[in-house]
Amino acid sequence: MRTLITGNLPEEVLGLIRREHEVEAHQENRPLERERLLEMVGDKEGLLCMITDRVDEELLEAGPKLQMIANFGVGFDNIDVAAASRRNIPVSNTPGVLTDATADLTFALMLAVARRMLEGDRIARAGAFRFWAPMHFLGHEVSGKTLGIIGLGRIGKALARRARGFDMTVLYHNRRRLSAEEEKSLGVSYGDFATVLSRADFVSLHVPLTPDTHHLVGRKELMAMRTSAYLINTSRGPVVEEQALLEALKEGAIAGAGLDVYEKEPDLTPGLEELHNVVLLPHIGSATVETRTKMGLKAAKNLLAGLRGKKPPDCLNWDNVQAAMPGQNGPPTNKA
Ligand code: DGY
Repeated sequence: MRTLITGNLPEEVLGLIRREHEVEAHQENRPLERERLLEMVGDKEGLLCMITDRVDEELLEAGPKLQMIANFGVGFDNIDVAAASRRNIPVSNTPGVLTDATADLTFALMLAVARRMLEGDRIARAGAFRFWAPMHFLGHEVSGKTLGIIGLGRIGKALARRARGFDMTVLYHNRRRLSAEEEKSLGVSYGDFATVLSRADFVSLHVPLTPDTHHLVGRKELMAMRTSAYLINTSRGPVVEEQALLEALKEGAIAGAGLDVYEKEPDLTPGLEELHNVVLLPHIGSATVETRTKMGLKAAKNLLAGLRGKKPPDCLNWDNVQAAMPGQNGPPTNKA
């Protein structure tokens, strides 16, 4: 069978897939253009796609032979999973392997924005570091503060564990409250969304992007935060209404923000780049050699299982695919 890989992946990953299938890969460090993607998927049974590829009805139409879609990423808001299910196509993601890298980067953003690290770096590089002074370049402490985690999944929990090392008080809000034992062992306390927003010195977002979480943080929520608080987002850009954030930052309604993701990625809301109280990163939460290799291998294993007609280990829609083809065992057929 033939597989299309839409991103530049380590040779180790390509080799694994090539052992069983013919591979056509877009080996460039930028997304495959839409027109090319629609063209290239035409004769493929497998698709290993990036989070920058929109997998929708149009793409599924263009790839009538598709039998498996493996996303290179844990977030899968780029994929219309229901549409894939209607065509009996299993879809998978890459949970677990990017938890630590993303939690590390989230913590780095908290430190960077609160301790004004990037501003300091710019000044030092510009040769403008002339003297040490007691009231010069004061930031705010992270140690001992209150961290509010919105969405306590794998990454949220990993962040809570890191916060313990900084003696932070950790509040969380999540759709499902953890058991008392889990809360105790993680050292976290539950609060409703409004309470967490109003008490935290750092609010960090770790929810998937869904219709329910789109613009979860807008003007009202930003105004509910403390004026000394920082907003950190390493989840998905559209969870935050970016124009409202820009205004809140300009007005001093919150102290600052650390962003790895943007509402209209890769574009930033104009004006954001001029603010000194934001740290802006180019969606690199999982961008380490170790993690990207693990993500690739995970996506490849999912892809191979799906193309063998087996349940991919991280399948997002197996029950729906099964329901659409009762009693069948072989690889699904892509028929809407
Ligand atoms: C993901 O996996 O969803 C990240 O945003 C990219 O690694």
